[in-house]
Amino acid sequence: MNRSAAGAAGPGADLRQALDAMPQVALGHWPTPLEPLPRLSAHLGGPPIWVKRDDCTGLGLGGNKVRKLEFLLGEARAAGATTIITVGGVQSNHARQTAAACARLGLRCELVLSRMVARHDAAYETGGNVLLDGLFGAEVKIFDDMQSAAERVREALAEAAKRGERAAFFPGGGSTATGAMGYVRAAIELEQQWGAADSAGSAIAGSRPQRILLASSTGGTLAGLVLGLHALRAAVPVTAIAVCGTAVATSATVAGLVAEAAAKLDIKTPSPTAIDVRDGFLGSGYGKPTDAMREALSTCARLEGLVLDPVYSGKGMAGLFAAVRSGELSGDAPVIFLHTGGSPALFV
Ligand SMILES: Cc1ncc(COP(=O)(O)O)c(C=O)c1O
Repeated sequence: MNRSAAGAAGPGADLRQALDAMPQVALGHWPTPLEPLPRLSAHLGGPPIWVKRDDCTGLGLGGNKVRKLEFLLGEARAAGATTIITVGGVQSNHARQTAAACARLGLRCELVLSRMVARHDAAYETGGNVLLDGLFGAEVKIFDDMQSAAERVREALAEAAKRGERAAFFPGGGSTATGAMGYVRAAIELEQQWGAADSAGSAIAGSRPQRILLASSTGGTLAGLVLGLHALRAAVPVTAIAVCGTAVATSATVAGLVAEAAAKLDIKTPSPTAIDVRDGFLGSGYGKPTDAMREALSTCARLEGLVLDPVYSGKGMAGLFAAVRSGELSGDAPVIFLHTGGSPALFV
């Protein structure tokens, strides 16, 4: 179905039109499913929990970055870029999805990765996402620290210019105002799914969710979602679990992205109170396992056959478990967990 044709009338029409007018490329499978998790809901004894399957975005084993890359690569291609350079941790899902998208579009891709997690073993540096990066034909360079990686980015940009090639650089996680547009669009998609009275007779049809939860790191996903829901006047609060830095730092980054993306769309910036990022689930650092993550991972796998990841969605889901157990999430209105992908990191 043509995205712009879907539900053309209604409060999202202007927003949809503004997004459709931006440079973009089609990369993913849309809409991603919105599925109930009845056995998990019964196990936790709280509200009905649903999962938005952005782990199933289709390209290169999927994940949230595919939505961002549709806009990032659209803009890069419109500017004539033939080389894409991006950064991330060694097991970056963003890097892997960028490599897959570049393969699809016939673009050269250089991934400049840094050792953000204290693991230097062969499995970590050659398996999981790194294995896929190579499979997609990306050039991978791994550095000990982010400073050296930044130096390599400058060098790679200069080398491309020398070769007479135009290169585009995407920051970590593809989190720019342009990348965030992917999640502005996801807000429209989600609202249609919970608002559609005919969505296969699903229990969520016509039932507005009480909360959306997700894991947040570089902030683009949360920024786009908050802005999109605000523009739609959807009045569904979003709670993010910080999985990289502190909640304060993540919120500040998200606020900046929201303001920039709002200006790009020429719409009002939502109040800062719409940005709810929580600490408490990161553990001793980015990519370091926690007991709560392990419990969330194994519970979702055993009760629903749902595969989370240890770095992002596992910690995000641990935040959801805690909010149900504390009684913060209760009643009959559904709760939606946004599954942002990342399962390749399970295999290292
Ligand atoms: C699997 C997964 N989930 C969540 C996130 C967080 O998204 P964002 O960086 O947009 O906050 C990322 C990327 O950082 C990711 O790879």
